[in-house]
Amino acid sequence: MNSPGRSLIRFWNSSIGKKLIVALTGLILLLFLLGHMTGNLLVFQGRDSINGYAEFLHTMLHGWGLWIARAVLLATFVLHIVTAILVTRENRVARDVPYVINRTKQVSLSAQMMIWTGLAIAAFVVIHLLHFTIRIDPELAAMKDPLDPERHDVYGMVIKGFQNPMALLIYIVAITLLCSHLSHGIASVFQTFGLRTRKTDRTIHYLGLALTILLWIGFLSIPLLVAIGVLHDGGAVNTSSLSSWLNSVAS
Ligand code: HEM
Repeated sequence: MNSPGRSLIRFWNSSIGKKLIVALTGLILLLFLLGHMTGNLLVFQGRDSINGYAEFLHTMLHGWGLWIARAVLLATFVLHIVTAILVTRENRVARDVPYVINRTKQVSLSAQMMIWTGLAIAAFVVIHLLHFTIRIDPELAAMKDPLDPERHDVYGMVIKGFQNPMALLIYIVAITLLCSHLSHGIASVFQTFGLRTRKTDRTIHYLGLALTILLWIGFLSIPLLVAIGVLHDGGAVNTSSLSSWLNSVAS
């Protein structure tokens, strides 16, 4: 085998090589999440904004753009999961002394649950793709934009989709688990890249926390505001519904 091939295998076989792959793919997935959340928030600008954005995604580069992005995303996602499982297994084997209660106590709950929250996110992505991309519900699949019946009504689909209490529950649980995963994952990325020192530790902690809270609020604001009737299919945010909801919470 030629030397770049051998170096690649050596990199893959090393523990630090795999950790770097987990960190790098994790970072790419985090960027996707920030982009996806920002795109989703266009729902608050109304039907035309989010439907126009979805139409742009589906037609960019003559339709190839979305497929290229999907291929990159899928490869990144699979690589992240497979490598993370291998690193976890290697860590378990390398740990010659079994966990002692005192040691486990120092590791946060989100750190201990990384592999489980990760697998739950993978299951959620499958459900989410069936829900909004493949659209197994014929009612959601058939929705057409009343402003332009040629294009799919993503706005109406998202609102109708979250009026289902089971869907609402799944998204709340899954996005909360995703945020638990990220709260540890973001700090781990800095650690792997050697940027986490005593001096930077606090800043990294707060940066991770801020990004996690931003994603939790950004993603869940949509289903939660649909559930309380503030975001509805009238084409705009219903602020009178928001104030009556706030009044009922206050009283
Ligand atoms: C409440 C939160 C979310 C909403 C409202 C939402 C909305 C959507 C919509 C409408 C689509 C389909 C776009 C289209 O085909 O036109 C989509 C696709 C997708 N979403 Fe989400 N999403 C949410 C959360 C998430 C989360 C947390 C993840 C990842 C963990 C995620 C990953 C994806 C992926 C991978 C696609 C497929 C993109 C494609 O191949 O077309 N979404 N989302």
